Parts: sequence; structure tokens; C-alpha cells
Amino acid sequence: MRKITKAVFPVAGMGSRFLPATKASPKEMMPVVDKPLIQYAVEEAVAAGITDMVFITGRNKRAIEDHFDKAYEIESELEARGKHELLRLVQQTVPEHINCIYIRQAEPLGLGHAVLCAAPVVGDEPFAVLLADDLIDADPPALRQMVEAYERQECSLLGVQNVPPADTGAYGIVSTEPGPGGLQNITAIVEKPAPEKAPSNLAVIGRYVLTPRIFHHLRRVQAGAGGEIQLTDAIAALIAEETVLAFPFHGIRYDCGSKLGYLKATIAFGRKHPEVGKDFTEYLASLNVGGRA
Ligand code: UTP
Repeated sequence: MRKITKAVFPVAGMGSRFLPATKASPKEMMPVVDKPLIQYAVEEAVAAGITDMVFITGRNKRAIEDHFDKAYEIESELEARGKHELLRLVQQTVPEHINCIYIRQAEPLGLGHAVLCAAPVVGDEPFAVLLADDLIDADPPALRQMVEAYERQECSLLGVQNVPPADTGAYGIVSTEPGPGGLQNITAIVEKPAPEKAPSNLAVIGRYVLTPRIFHHLRRVQAGAGGEIQLTDAIAALIAEETVLAFPFHGIRYDCGSKLGYLKATIAFGRKHPEVGKDFTEYLASLNVGGRA
């Protein structure tokens, strides 16, 4: 079995739902309390034993590259001012043994195309894909749960969660049947079905473990609506050849690609933040007392 050592982070989308915040920087750089979404995702990958982080960047790539790079000016300034705690935070954005690799997606041709851009670096190995705007609060972290399941099952896995039936039009939706290890085999996948056409309300969330065969299918997928190459279409072709399992990870997922999900994440992470959590929780409680929450 090949160990999973590479994670792909597609960060080249338009982020149109967060304009104007995303006009000059990627939505994955938006902070939840004090950490950008992409850092939560990278930390999750590190916790899953992954060592090579492959970012598929787009027009606003600078901020992400800078974030995971050394910040000489800030570091020497903090050093000079004796702010050692902050200095440690800045220096530990990624552990030393982690490699960050950047690939440019010249045009935002869809999530499938973004994943295909990683093929030269990933090669013939299974790999993970994390969409940083799906922020998952879980212990153990969601990708770690999936990598452990991969080590038992040795096949592709998609992170899934039940969503309200009215919301199927925002997700890839799967049909399943009982599979190995108490998991479900995916028998079909459709992209963003209307509620009346959805085969279930089991939605694919932004965590994937994929075999390299997916690249073969991504090269053959025809662009769909809006000229985008859909990852869902390639997964549908993969299902015809290989086992693909649905993995219902344990944890709370926040859809930080939407304003409401992002606000919910900010409240949840704010409440348990070591520095401000207690005061913030008291503040929220005071709003309720005042009837203005
Ligand atoms: P979304 O569907 O959330 O699109 O992409 P988006 O452009 O980021 O956001 P909205 O809908 O305009 O607000 C899912 C993931 O795929 C990446 C995005 O960065 C996001 O992480 N993506 C999407 C790419 O990297 N390239 C693409 O061409 C499209």
C-alpha cells in the first residue's frame, strides 16, 4: 500500500460569494478568529501525516505563498521587541519538515481542472484533496480519520454528510449501498441536483482521498456548464472501475464558502479560543439577556 504523503489544496476559485473581501486576496486567506482558513486545512493535513502540500493557486496567489513562507521583516521586528510568543506563532505556520509546492491554474476552469493541475507533482500515488472553505472541527481531525480508513480499505474515499433535502442543489450528492468495513459503497454521484431529482441527501464535503486513476478520468471529462471541468464527473467515471467509499467523518463542518457558515464558524471558534473565548462567550450571553442576539 502506498502511504498518503501529498495533499492538494485548490485555492484558485473566484470566491465570488465573498466579494469584495475576495477582490484582491483568496477566500482561503479569510481568518476565522486569528488564523486563515487555509492554515486550518494545512494543520489538518499535517495531523494526517501528510508532508507535501500542493497549492493550486490562481490570480491572487501571493498572499498564500507569503503566508507559508518565512517572514524575515516581521520576525526580526518581533525579535527586537522581545515578543517571543508572537514570534513563535509566526515561525510555526508550518512545521520544518513540510514542503509547500505551488502550481498556477492559469484559468479558473473548475475544481476538476484544479485537481488535474496537481498531476505532475502527485504522480502515481494516492493523495488527499482538501477544500479549505469547508472548515471541520473534529477530534481526531477529519482527514486523519479518512487516511486511517484508507489504510484499512485501500481505495478512494469521499467525505460525506447528510444535508437538509432543500440544500442538495449546492453539493455533489451520492447514492450508496452497504460496503466494506461498515462504510457505504458509492454507486452514483450527481453534481448539484435539484431536491426533487436528488438520489439522497448525502452530500460530498470538501475532503477526498483519491487514487491516481482519477487523473486519467479528469483528462477525459468534457467541460460542463460554465466551461468548468467537474471533479464530480471524473469521480462518476472512477466509480465504474474502482471502489469509492463514502466516509461520514465525525465532526462539525462549517461551510465557510458561504457568509452564514463563515459567521457560524467564527462564533464556534471564537467561543473556544484560548485568549478571548471566555470573554466572547460572556459577551454572547449578554446579548441574549438584552434580547438583541
Ligand atoms: P467553489 O465552488 O466554492 O467556487 O470552489 P469559488 O470560486 O471558490 O467560490 P464562489 O462560488 O465563486 O463563491 C470549490 C473549491 O475549488 C477551488 C476553489 O478555490 C474552492 O476551494 N477552485 C474552483 C479552484 O481552485 N479552481 C477553479 O477553477 C474552481
